[in-house]
Amino acid sequence: MNVIPCNEPARQYYYMDRVRELLKEETKKAGRPLTYHIQTFGCQMNAKDSEKLAGILEYVGYTECDNENADFVIYNTCTVRENANTRVYGRIGYLGTLKAKNPFMKIALCGCMMQEPKAVEKVKKSYRFVDIIFGTHNIFKLAELLYEKFNGNNKQIIDIWEGTTEIVEDLPSAMKFDFKAGINITYGCNNFCTYCIVPYVRGRERSRKPEDIVKEAEELVSKGVIEVMLLGQNVNSYGKGLEEPCSFAELLRKVCRVEGIKRVRFMTPHPKDFSDEVIEVMKTEPKICAHVHLPVQSGSSRILKRMNRHYTKEQYLTLVEKIKRELPDVSLTTDIIVGFPGETEEDFLDTVDVVKKCGFDSAFTFIYSKRNGTPAADYPDEVPEDVVKDRFERLLEVCKEQSENAAERMTGKVAEVLVEGLDEGNTGMLTGRLSNNLLVHFEGCDKLIGKLIKVRLDECKGFYYLGSVAE
Ligand code: 5AD
Ligand code: SF4
Repeated sequence: MNVIPCNEPARQYYYMDRVRELLKEETKKAGRPLTYHIQTFGCQMNAKDSEKLAGILEYVGYTECDNENADFVIYNTCTVRENANTRVYGRIGYLGTLKAKNPFMKIALCGCMMQEPKAVEKVKKSYRFVDIIFGTHNIFKLAELLYEKFNGNNKQIIDIWEGTTEIVEDLPSAMKFDFKAGINITYGCNNFCTYCIVPYVRGRERSRKPEDIVKEAEELVSKGVIEVMLLGQNVNSYGKGLEEPCSFAELLRKVCRVEGIKRVRFMTPHPKDFSDEVIEVMKTEPKICAHVHLPVQSGSSRILKRMNRHYTKEQYLTLVEKIKRELPDVSLTTDIIVGFPGETEEDFLDTVDVVKKCGFDSAFTFIYSKRNGTPAADYPDEVPEDVVKDRFERLLEVCKEQSENAAERMTGKVAEVLVEGLDEGNTGMLTGRLSNNLLVHFEGCDKLIGKLIKVRLDECKGFYYLGSVAE
């Protein structure tokens, strides 16, 4: 008799092998290959988690399908704003109708929304046909949960962990692209910005060991990857709690030293922790891309204090000035929330002022969304909806003007582009990404996909360029 291993990842490999056998039987019964589909909502962290889930499903024998008419559908959910939840509920019902027609179909929900007890209650009550519900801390357990399901557990399986200190490494991962990949460097967040639900659904900040990160980067190179994105909720607080201390700047140096890596990106730094050392590494390591995504959230020092962001308007502007001075080619992008409780017209004008002074290359603007359980959800002074809408529109206008001006500055230059694929809209055209993250569309052969090539940036179209191959 097989003994089930207690340690990870051995335990999951045990279950993946068992599920593989069970799935073979199931496939025979179906008389066709069984398929999976993962729908990812939300951020890059979720996208990375979905690659891990896909890796497990491919290992056990499912093949990928690009729509929900699959035999195993996973929704990897997001809950950062209310509309993310609404979108998910809207679609689960549709999955139920598909399941009624396919006896082999299984449905799983995971991700940030499932860490909220209210959401799980709702699924339990209204969507009984969902087979498996799991959270953000135990995605590595998918095979074990599937095994339970295949072994005749007809009940809805719910496995949500409140938190974890464990980081499970070395499970399979199915990459979305062959040439670029994300690497988690930290999990969770300790900042507790008062509007944000992330610390409650993704838990406390944990850093992976630098040697594990470097090992993953080397493995990715061996599979053909040339661009990596280091992922964390607050990348520049990386390293806290490690046995052997390592700062984010040191980690960047280590990853840049990995042979075969041509480009290194990172997402997301927090303005309060952006050190001079990181700026120095960006200056000296040519592999680090000329892009800093630096969420400002608000331009008003009073609102920033209420948001618990730990910097003032002036400190943010000083940091941006320093980054632009030291890294003149860098493109700067940001996140902004409009209508945080208590935001006055004067506070809002401070945000507009910051946008004008920083000249962001692009800004992701969000209407404040109240998240239950966060401190700001109890703030009484909500801004009326019509006022928020008006401010949001005005802000969009300013951001658009700024980003058009900012993008224009590279017109006529020749720059290196990582060719990412065929342009979806324009047949025959390729799409690539500049070091500063801007997109370029140009004519070329699909053999160039995954390669770094020189492209002339002929015409700026706002948030992308039309270009031509320059070599
Ligand atoms: N409401 C609106 N936007 C939010 N964000 C995070 N929480 C909320 C919320 N409750 C935005 C922030 C963050 C981005 C990922 O999402 O701007 O940087
Ligand atoms: Fe949320 Fe703030 Fe953490 Fe970002 S840094 S995930 S906004 S709490």
